[in-house]
Amino acid sequence: MATSSAPGKVYLFGEHAVVYGEPAIPCAIERRATVTAERRSDDRLRVDAMDLTLDGFTVEYSSDTDETPDIDVPDSLLSAATGYVDGAISQARDAAGASDAGFEVTIESEIPLGAGLGSSAAVVVAAIDAASRELGTDLDSREIAARAYEVEYDVQNGQASRADTFCSATGGAVRVEGSDCSAIDAPNLPFVIGYDGGAGDTGDLVSGVRELRERYGFAADTIDAIGDLVREGERALVASDLEALGELMDFDHGLLSALGVSARSLDAMVWAARDAGAFGAKLTGAGGGGCIVALDESEETTGALRHTVDCAEAFRAELDTEGVRKEA
Ligand code: MEV
Repeated sequence: MATSSAPGKVYLFGEHAVVYGEPAIPCAIERRATVTAERRSDDRLRVDAMDLTLDGFTVEYSSDTDETPDIDVPDSLLSAATGYVDGAISQARDAAGASDAGFEVTIESEIPLGAGLGSSAAVVVAAIDAASRELGTDLDSREIAARAYEVEYDVQNGQASRADTFCSATGGAVRVEGSDCSAIDAPNLPFVIGYDGGAGDTGDLVSGVRELRERYGFAADTIDAIGDLVREGERALVASDLEALGELMDFDHGLLSALGVSARSLDAMVWAARDAGAFGAKLTGAGGGGCIVALDESEETTGALRHTVDCAEAFRAELDTEGVRKEA
């Protein structure tokens, strides 16, 4: 039996534009997905997934049946979740040269599903590490990141960047531009997360942005502008300039809203954070629902979010400098 964990992440800047080769800066946060893989004597796969939202629910499915789990999340999210696990196990089998290895896989996650905190990447990264170690093969974090990207790319029909998977595999703040991925020497950032209790469909949201970009030159310009903003944001991050980072986060949220990926609940949480004195706030991840991230050293933003009708949970999240980690 082998157990591994990997962190979720927030996007400080650059989601969506990163799909078109612009740079992005995701930051790993101390909320982890933990995956245990245990070899079976046959070639079958059974997956138990627990606590895939902060509230917690149980999904139990076996990849060799048509059984539909009875849980309160959209089918698209559920089939994506099972697709990610199947893909991760295929990558581990491939890495170890054991194409018929069967597994019992158990997933526990502190990261809400589809909410912009990189839950799928964390599960895939941890699952590849646990299953390949269970097969006697140790992969380094870069290879795990590359294999996890292949899984996301397949499940998201070719609409994925390397940002989530690289950040989850290596931890810390990272810069991703196309296939160039590198660590950024960043200070600890006072992240506050607001979660509306819901989720967006990454595939639909990415497709929506693609259509806008093809239809309107100014939508393509908006994506280019996000790239410029990220380059400016990287300078502010390295200089530990929280005021500038906050201003750029506000700007990025405006550009993402223009691209149609915000939601009333996300806007309400962003404004609650700003009114509470946060340096800045923006949606994180694909959008459509899920989480916002704000920067605030005080407890004001967390308190204000907890009093916001659209906010189901608010919590502080430290930057996690550790990526994928062996737990057992
Ligand atoms: C989703 O977490 C972030 C997007 O930029 C898609 C991706 O980078 O794969 C919307």
